[in-house]
Amino acid sequence: MKKVHIAPSILSADFANLEKEIRAIDEGGCDWVHVDVMDGSFVPPITIGDNIVKAIRPHTEKVMDVHLMVEHPETQVEAFVKAGADMITIHQETCVHLERTLQLIRSLGCKAGVSLCPSTPVSTIKNVLHCTDLVLLMSVNPGYGGQSYIHAVTDKIKETRAMLDAAGSSAFLHVDGGVSPKTIEEASSAGADSFVAGSAVYNTPDYAAAIADLRALAEKV
Ligand code: DX5
Ligand code: ZN
Repeated sequence: MKKVHIAPSILSADFANLEKEIRAIDEGGCDWVHVDVMDGSFVPPITIGDNIVKAIRPHTEKVMDVHLMVEHPETQVEAFVKAGADMITIHQETCVHLERTLQLIRSLGCKAGVSLCPSTPVSTIKNVLHCTDLVLLMSVNPGYGGQSYIHAVTDKIKETRAMLDAAGSSAFLHVDGGVSPKTIEEASSAGADSFVAGSAVYNTPDYAAAIADLRALAEKV
């Protein structure tokens, strides 16, 4: 059976009860905790800073999967590593010196991820695969939870899977945005192995059941 990772996004959690919300997905069987960091510039909202990652870190031992939707990510990396991130993903679109910043993340002991917006070609990361532990394909335009999966991204997942396989890369292929029981099989069939799910977990009454459903659907392809 295919090994998959389910990463609930705390963007859709109740921020007034974050400790409880983190513990609930941990006990509900998530693999990674996805943290959406937005700066009000690369994307309109301002969400979570390194101080929040530090505050939630003691409440789970699961992998802290930090998604930086910020300009100048190189200035933020160290703070998020210190706060307890295990994986840090930066956007290709925000980073001229992408190779340098991915190497910086790795040098600080974290896994390094690179993300692409729906309109950015897969070819733009071909030359950094040697220092990439995770490729995160946005299947919505970044900025908000609860949007609909863009089906045109499914071909990008296939293209990325082929590129990673051809390069002999074992990087995770993560899909983020609009992942739900209706879309996860499509993304998994195309070659994704890791899945962010915000509203599809946190907007349900039973997080454990939502995580288990998503996992079963992704695994069976
Ligand atoms: C969007 C974020 C996503 C988002 C996913 O910019 O990167 O992680 O929270 O939310 P859903 O799963 O509701 O689309
Ligand atoms: Zn995200």
